[in-house]
Amino acid sequence: MRKFASLSICVLLIAALVYFTQAQQLGDKAQLGRELFHDPTFKGTLSPTGKKAATGLACADCHADFDEATKPDGRIRAGHSVIGVPHRGTAKGGMISGADFARAAGGGGFCYEHFLQRVRPDQVNPTAIPAEHAEALMAYFEAISGDNKGPQFEIEMLDDDAKIAAGEKIAAMPGDAKKGWQLFGRACIVCHTTPSKAGIGPRLIYRKPRDIDKQMARWAKTIRGGGSSLMPFYASDILSDQDIADILAFLREQLESLAR
Ligand code: HEC
Ligand code: HEC
Repeated sequence: MRKFASLSICVLLIAALVYFTQAQQLGDKAQLGRELFHDPTFKGTLSPTGKKAATGLACADCHADFDEATKPDGRIRAGHSVIGVPHRGTAKGGMISGADFARAAGGGGFCYEHFLQRVRPDQVNPTAIPAEHAEALMAYFEAISGDNKGPQFEIEMLDDDAKIAAGEKIAAMPGDAKKGWQLFGRACIVCHTTPSKAGIGPRLIYRKPRDIDKQMARWAKTIRGGGSSLMPFYASDILSDQDIADILAFLREQLESLAR
């Protein structure tokens, strides 16, 4: 009987602990950060029209705000999870570091200008994000990370020649169109809607190219290396060469079924 009583007290204590950790509210700053992270208007601070108009993309379209390694949701995002950002200390392969790191929201300030407002990469100022927004995002990243250092990865910054070489290598690999369709759905539909329908990204399938092989090499280069505006690059720990070859096999099948 006594054993039973102490067991129930234990269970009650654990239940209370779980309840209180779950009910714990984010602080005001972190809550603002959470809303900014999911809102393509950045809480209405981005303009709907004009030169730096909102593109319609939110941070959450390209980054998870949870641990994808332990709780995958099936989606493939171009960027890594923001879990662990405050532990990194540098961003963009060392280009953002020191005091700029926090001021640029751990590197998110680059994405803020480039992906949310279409500023050309060579003209982006990663610390142009309002200080209050950078602080709020970092507070959110801290709140959701705790001690979790997040995904460990190293971004290879490919130059043009390396991108072309990677594209040619991938385009020469055989792929599985059925797997490619699923990968396309998990990774690309957020911007390309369907292969034959434009979204934030253009229609991919509408006209049979004269040289499909050449087109595949160009497309593989774009997927691995990124595009000229909003098309993000996919690092090899996010989409392997084989994954991209599978996506190309799927797109090739669609192109080949078009009448010329
Ligand atoms: C169109 C996709 C896209 C959007 C939208 C986007 N990002 Fe990124 N982001 C990327 C990619 C790709 C990288 C480079 C790969 C990586 O480091 O995860 C990156 C890098 C980062 C990094 C890490 C930089 C580094 O090198 O360690 C942070 C932090 C980040 N983004 C935060 C944000 C925040 C905050 C927003 C919203 C303001 C945002 N991103 C919007 C795609 C995007
Ligand atoms: C964040 C939005 C976004 C995501 C996600 C995205 N794309 Fe794109 N994509 C674009 C935009 C915008 C362009 C055109 C402008 C550019 O090159 O940046 C583009 C261009 C392309 C092109 C070149 C089209 C041409 O004929 O020049 C290909 C191929 C492509 N995307 C394939 C993909 C595939 C495959 C995926 C998934 C693995 C993907 N995209 C994910 C936005 C996106």
